[in-house]
Amino acid sequence: MVKKTNKNEGIFITFEGGEGSGKSTQIQKLKNNILGFISDVEIVISREPGGTEVAEQIREILVNGAADKLSVRTETLLMIAARAEHIDRVILPAIKRGAIVLCDRFKDSSIVYQGIANKIPNREIDKIHAFALKTCEPDLTILIDVPAEIGIKRALDRNENNQRFERKGELFHKKIRDGYLKIASLHPDRIKIIDGSQTIEKISDEIFQLVFPILRSSLSK
Ligand code: TMP
Repeated sequence: MVKKTNKNEGIFITFEGGEGSGKSTQIQKLKNNILGFISDVEIVISREPGGTEVAEQIREILVNGAADKLSVRTETLLMIAARAEHIDRVILPAIKRGAIVLCDRFKDSSIVYQGIANKIPNREIDKIHAFALKTCEPDLTILIDVPAEIGIKRALDRNENNQRFERKGELFHKKIRDGYLKIASLHPDRIKIIDGSQTIEKISDEIFQLVFPILRSSLSK
């Protein structure tokens, strides 16, 4: 059973997965499911890179343009700079107020995309995160797992302009999927894998079953 590990008052849940894994749909569903269970709770939905005015500006640099327009080191620092801004101005204040924060991507995206797929050594990412994260660690991370070729097709079909990462090719996205499964196996208590090839309803039921014990334990305090 998942227990609340975050020492702050609220609950911090992150969603991870490759392109087109359906995270944003499931975040909205989870919000509705939580509100069906507890009505007087503040739920903050956010995303990375982004979530504040400046972090959204950094996002524009990161997600637009040619796949190779940034060096991997610069990309890593910008991702984590946007995260520090998001943590300081949105996530930590919300958790301290007792809100439930549902975040589309967080630190595991840097560990997988910049670390495993782009070969920045894990210890370097850990060092930058040690500075940027402060005490901010997710209580639970939902990894929505879909085969790379299905996810990338869904994402490209959206036909948006900001597709710098989608353009990185199938091999890159296979490394992302394998990378996520690897870190999930290293942190089985925090990272829970959901099969993203199921129906939207089945996925949202499974996610709520994971979140429910945390809600219950947080309410009983
Ligand atoms: P999105 O697809 O969730 O909108 O995120 C934009 C892209 O940014 C996505 O392809 C994953 C990538 N990304 C990283 O490479 N590292 C990170 O730390 C984060 C948060 C996102």
